[in-house]
Amino acid sequence: MSRKTIVVLTGAGISAESGISTFRDNNGLWRNYRFEEVASPEAWKRDPGLVLEFYNMRRKKVFEAEPNEGHKALVRLEKAYNVQIITQNVDDLHERAGSSHVIHLHGEIKKARSTVDPSLIYKLNHWELKLGDKCEKGSQLRPHIVWFGEPVPEFPKAINIARKADIFIIVGTSLNVYPAAGLIHYVPTAAPKYYVDPAPQSTSTVCGLEIIAKTAGRGLPPLVDRLLSVADPQT
Ligand code: APR
Repeated sequence: MSRKTIVVLTGAGISAESGISTFRDNNGLWRNYRFEEVASPEAWKRDPGLVLEFYNMRRKKVFEAEPNEGHKALVRLEKAYNVQIITQNVDDLHERAGSSHVIHLHGEIKKARSTVDPSLIYKLNHWELKLGDKCEKGSQLRPHIVWFGEPVPEFPKAINIARKADIFIIVGTSLNVYPAAGLIHYVPTAAPKYYVDPAPQSTSTVCGLEIIAKTAGRGLPPLVDRLLSVADPQT
């Protein structure tokens, strides 16, 4: 009996209990910054120093953060399921918790990319990326992030994974940003779907969604226990 596949779409909410700001909550990042000024190609052209500063501040938090009970619960699922995580988050907390398959739709904050050759991607071991930090071809490095208005190169891969979901879980996202928010529509209708979020958005367009109006740290562990208890016995 091959293992069933669980696809998990995560957003900023799963990292909230690790001390990383969300975007649209009360003290979310977009309450204090206009994303057009710090997270768009136009912002980069206009004031690359401000954009670098914005991501440096967030990257510093990610270096200081630890995975929380929500991240760890998803790792436990791997005991009996093929777990594919599709995250909108740019932190590496899923990987550091131990998840084996993680796709970052919106990029990775601990990486920098050449502005002249996008195939040149560098791991950052320190929180600060500065003006003057250059790629091997001599061009300024930029955050390896998908900015507003830029294409989402990993989305076709995410669609193929969502299409094969036996179970689908959404955690900690306001479902505001496309194409990520539309992923659920590629999941087979018959697949059980769960939405873990203390303030879930209305998802009237999606039928058969079980809403668990709790934080990731409190809502995911019991859901994972439930799914492990009904998993097919491993051959
Ligand atoms: N546990 C689970 N969910 C939480 C928690 C928590 N402890 N705290 C807050 N949330 C929920 C909020 O209720 C909200 O639904 O997390 C969600 C956060 O929503 P957003 O701040 O909009 O974050 P997200 O949905 O990930 O944003 C998507 O928008 O700005 C872009 O690229 C950015 O990837 C981001 C995208």
